[in-house]
Amino acid sequence: MDGVLPRRAAQLLGDARRVVIFTGAGISAESGVPTFRDDLTGLWARFDAQRLATAEAFHADPDLVWGWYEWRRTRVSRAEPNPGHLAIATIQTRVPGSTVVTQNVDDLHERAGTRAAIHLHGSLFAPRCIAAAAHPATFEDTPDGEAAQPHEGRRIPPPRCASCSALIRPGVVWFGEALPEAALTAAVEAAAACDLLLTVGTSAVVYPAAEIPRIAARSGATVIQINPQPTPLDQVSAINLRGNAAQVLPALVADAWEQTDER
Ligand code: APR
Repeated sequence: MDGVLPRRAAQLLGDARRVVIFTGAGISAESGVPTFRDDLTGLWARFDAQRLATAEAFHADPDLVWGWYEWRRTRVSRAEPNPGHLAIATIQTRVPGSTVVTQNVDDLHERAGTRAAIHLHGSLFAPRCIAAAAHPATFEDTPDGEAAQPHEGRRIPPPRCASCSALIRPGVVWFGEALPEAALTAAVEAAAACDLLLTVGTSAVVYPAAEIPRIAARSGATVIQINPQPTPLDQVSAINLRGNAAQVLPALVADAWEQTDER
């Protein structure tokens, strides 16, 4: 990867001992999973978040909301991790003291080999009983055949809890809901203790998640941003790499350990 900044970024990564990799929807964009706020293609440009991603929306029309998340889950299941996800898994192998913190509800980090990723906004693959989160909940298998496949705008009744018959809800954090406490605490602690934070593919406008890179910066860590567009984190970041994650991350990783192996 050419240029002073990328080489400096690679050097910082190669020398880091405690790394946090903070990701948003942009890391999965090149796997065909839409982001939220990109013009036209972003989910919120096409769908009304208030009608689909709030507890009130689920109570008002559970079939519409469940159908929408089943459509998103099906899309993610058909997607594959991209070289950006794979590079992050490599960083975790190369730097034992590294932590992956994601806002994404897909499972592409895990499928790329990342262990124990912290999901701040839940997961499309962790449905739960709306009455008691402790009640086990599973997905009913979608019958074969295209006609049965979840698709945009299709209403699908949510399954019922086997323990108490309450509705099963998607395991994601909806607008207006608190983040899972253990996940948020672990992310804050990792950010406060790291020496380098990579922020990848997030618009950094949704709080409290967007506070994570700021906590790292306030704690003396170096922040490096990877995003083709400017974000509010430009000022917080020592280095802004304007590019796509699936191109920038593999090059950064290759360069970082090429440099260290040479020494
Ligand atoms: N590589 C890197 N970054 C990319 C790429 C790419 N290939 N494509 C797009 N981006 C960047 C965009 O420029 C944008 O800044 O990714 C960012 C995606 O921003 P959002 O769509 O706002 O997604 P995110 O920041 O993850 O949203 C945060 O908002 O809607 C809620 O709960 C949802 O977790 C989500 C949260």
